[in-house]
Amino acid sequence: MGKITIAIDGYSSTGKSTLAKRLASALNYVYVDTGAMYRAVTLFALNNKYVGTNEDIPSLIKQLPNINLKFVPNKTLGLSEMYLNDENVERQIRTMEVSDHVSKVATIEEVRHMLVAMQQQMGEEKGIVMDGRDIGTVVFPNAELKIFMTASPETRATRRYKELLERGEEVTFDEVLKNVQKRDRIDSTREMSPLKKAEDAIEFDNSDMGLEEQFERIYNYSLRVINKNN
Ligand code: DC
Repeated sequence: MGKITIAIDGYSSTGKSTLAKRLASALNYVYVDTGAMYRAVTLFALNNKYVGTNEDIPSLIKQLPNINLKFVPNKTLGLSEMYLNDENVERQIRTMEVSDHVSKVATIEEVRHMLVAMQQQMGEEKGIVMDGRDIGTVVFPNAELKIFMTASPETRATRRYKELLERGEEVTFDEVLKNVQKRDRIDSTREMSPLKKAEDAIEFDNSDMGLEEQFERIYNYSLRVINKNN
């Protein structure tokens, strides 16, 4: 059966990665979390003081060729983890500090060019589920299936707040809600590749939907699209 490309875009904390991971595993496709790539570049920028209290974007741009990003499968967990210059940074890229600076780093043209080129290479052979903000519009405009996920900011902040508490981060619900709203604003108004629904994407609002129902619906829909393309 010929494989297709599945692009999943949408606002932060809409559950894109949970759905994309499960879908990829059910279809035996590769899953790529492009947000993790922007987060890893942000971690590099924070560690080297190119963003944060100090700001030196030109130096960050100069250092881009020295950033080596890799997804390495973790057999025990059954998923891939992000490595930055051969160090496993999967936990470090999910902190509030990285979340607070990632949208800014994602507006840098040179960063986007580098990461989009890597993403297109990863998807060359199809059989991929990629989630992000610009996958259906910029990375794979010809993807056979495009899904645009939405949910209310409060629903998304509640999900993210729970996740952060479970990981032992000390945050308030209000801080998380503000971060979600700030990222929505920056992600959808930036000049280059702003977050927007591709014309041929299906919009999927999961505010009132459990994980099982979301998966069933999208999985069945994917099978129909795969059959149509064979
Ligand atoms: O999906 P996430 O929340 O981990 O993404 C982190 C940030 O990276 C998000 O605020 C916007 C940016 N991003 C992007 O600009 N383009 C992508 N394809 C993926 C993420």
